[in-house]
Amino acid sequence: MSHSLSNEQLVAAANSFGTPLYVYDAANIEGQYSALTTAFAGQHVKFFYASKALTNINILKLMLNMGCAVDCSSINEAHLAIKAGHAPKNILYTSNGIHFSEIETAVSLGIHVNIDSLSNLEKFGKKYGGSYPVGIRLRPNIMAGGNLKISTGHDKSKFGVPLEQLEELLAIIDTYQINIAGLHIHTGSEIKDVSVFMKVTDVFFDLVPKFPHLQFLDLGGGFKVPYKAGDPSTNISELAAEIKKFQEKLQSTYARSFELWFEPGKYMVSKAGYFITEVNVIKQTPTITFAGVNSGFNHLIRPMLYEAYHEIKNLSNPNGPLATYDVVGNICETDTFASDRQIATISEGDLLVFENAGAYGFEMASNFNSRYKPAEVMVIKGEAKLIRQRDTFEDLTRNQVEVL
Ligand code: LLP
Repeated sequence: MSHSLSNEQLVAAANSFGTPLYVYDAANIEGQYSALTTAFAGQHVKFFYASKALTNINILKLMLNMGCAVDCSSINEAHLAIKAGHAPKNILYTSNGIHFSEIETAVSLGIHVNIDSLSNLEKFGKKYGGSYPVGIRLRPNIMAGGNLKISTGHDKSKFGVPLEQLEELLAIIDTYQINIAGLHIHTGSEIKDVSVFMKVTDVFFDLVPKFPHLQFLDLGGGFKVPYKAGDPSTNISELAAEIKKFQEKLQSTYARSFELWFEPGKYMVSKAGYFITEVNVIKQTPTITFAGVNSGFNHLIRPMLYEAYHEIKNLSNPNGPLATYDVVGNICETDTFASDRQIATISEGDLLVFENAGAYGFEMASNFNSRYKPAEVMVIKGEAKLIRQRDTFEDLTRNQVEVL
């Protein structure tokens, strides 16, 4: 049973810290991690939290305290992980489209790196030869994930080295005697079927003999979490059982074993996050009742960008009769959080909470329309603590240079 925050706790946080407000439940994150480690107990696996989902330093420290490693998608995320106290061996930089200088920085930090292009691999080979073990990201041409915008393994994806270029890849490795310690494939986000991960292991299985120095096989992230009642989710115990079989097959076929790596983002922090807004305006039109909140896609872009569904509850009138609303934001263009949604009757001033807002919520927030980014709060052992202040007017102009 995963931990969740009560309406009373959320209302109390909104009253103490104001809205719009992101609230994270540390106990839920701990529960998610422990569900993973329990399912994979005794197996040779390692989990790197995909920090791009939510990089607040306290979340990174919570991961550290739980013993969870960190996956990064920029060199700055790697610096943040180090700042939070993670050891270099527990930091992975899965890069894409980056300047080679970031790879040099990653090497100087001593962190793991997954290289995503032949071009950077060649530069890497020239500079480091076989002196620094490195991973290579592959593109398996597998279509997976909740929608095209979050699919990364298909044959038109910019990510990884396409398998069709295997010969070129091997030639570069051979020329520079590069020590390929890991193979990486991440096919997308919101993968509900375990079979997709097993397709990836099939790809790895065929490639293993070509890479004599391999230590890690990295299956990326993408575990699906439910966003609404009845939504499917990745069956983690089934995945663990299949991964165990895969390890046994590697052992019996090649007499080799590898550490299996995963990079879960949403799975770790999505459910733990609540985004609380206040209703500014109820606008009754002949066809639609709009509930306009004191936020917008500048704070939670997932509905507008991916047509993502977030459950919305009325914290101020939780048991009121249901009515149908379009919940909209205050940004100066179409800004819809939910259409035609049944919610307990809403009045102006009510607090609405968006659930499953921990992953890619605050992290994708912006100052569009010169609005402030929300504050963030973490509930730790029952106590709500401010972990990021709301922006102030100074934040809007901080980096601007007045020349007129
Ligand atoms: N590893 C790599 C290499 C990735 O690119 C990603 C996500 C992950 C791990 C973590 O995936 P997760 O477990 O969170 O599904 N902003 C979008 C999701 C984009 C995911 C990008 N890469 C959203 O809000 O749905």
